[in-house]
Amino acid sequence: MPEQGRFTGRAAIVTGAARGIGAATAARLAAEGAQVLLADQAPEVMAQAEALGGVGLRIDLAARGAGEVVVDTALDAFGRLDILVNNAGIGGSKPLLESDDDLIDRFIDTNLKAVLRLTRAAIPHLARPGGRIVSVSSTFGIAGYPGTTAYAVAKAGIAQMTRQLAGELAPEGILVNAVAPGVIETAMTKGHLGNDYYRRAVLEPTPLRRAGTPEEVAAVIAFLASADAAYVAGQVIAVDGGWLAARHPPREAG
Ligand SMILES: NC(=O)c1ccc[n+]([C@@H]2O[C@H](COP(=O)([O-])OP(=O)(O)OC[C@H]3O[C@@H](n4cnc5c(N)ncnc54)[C@H](O)[C@@H]3O)[C@@H](O)[C@H]2O)c1
Repeated sequence: MPEQGRFTGRAAIVTGAARGIGAATAARLAAEGAQVLLADQAPEVMAQAEALGGVGLRIDLAARGAGEVVVDTALDAFGRLDILVNNAGIGGSKPLLESDDDLIDRFIDTNLKAVLRLTRAAIPHLARPGGRIVSVSSTFGIAGYPGTTAYAVAKAGIAQMTRQLAGELAPEGILVNAVAPGVIETAMTKGHLGNDYYRRAVLEPTPLRRAGTPEEVAAVIAFLASADAAYVAGQVIAVDGGWLAARHPPREAG
């Protein structure tokens, strides 16, 4: 741990930290001095936490009461709470007409309700001033993209929660922001990245012409969680290789 990192003396919760963007974020915050609680339902979260010198908590965040358990665990371990990173989520949504009740419940419960509940549990305990909430939305929660309705609606909800709470909490010294990743190479996208349709529909239109890495998203989350973002509130920052701003048309055949 560096002697004086941006997060020295700060305590953070990172959800979905067993792998992917959450693991990279927990590692980045810890490397810059934070004490980190890594919360995830996957058993790998315990080893991940140990490797970072953090605290691991295996929990299904979609269950009622989970938010309170996560916050109490962080307070017991660290005695304070400065940063909440709402990252846990599931992918693989379907067109709405193919989405049964269970699928809709799963996406809204995990990707939206769990975020609202954990955030509600954390707010009373966040440092004032200096508290930070950074949530992971998606480019699909900003631009319409066919076939992902339940996922996209949940991610749009996170973006709106961010604007809503930014206005309520900035006067108390708590900054609320979000990132909207594009295609990032993680377990969530592994199945699609080799798929020709996905490559043509999503990767080729991306001005940077490649998928992003979890570390590239973690760097922006860390910025938003830090004092460097002292005058940023209510923003949903795309980390998408330029996809939202300047999608390229398909290349001509041949
Ligand atoms: N990978 C991408 O291209 C991409 C793009 C846009 C947004 N996102 C968002 O980024 C976040 C992280 O995704 P990732 O790509 O790192 O995916 P990932 O599947 O690698 O990691 C997600 C983590 O969340 C955990 N999780 C899921 N549901 C949970 C629950 N109910 N309780 C506890 N833990 C739970 C999983 O166990 C996993 O460790 C998600 O919110 C995702 O929607 C990802």
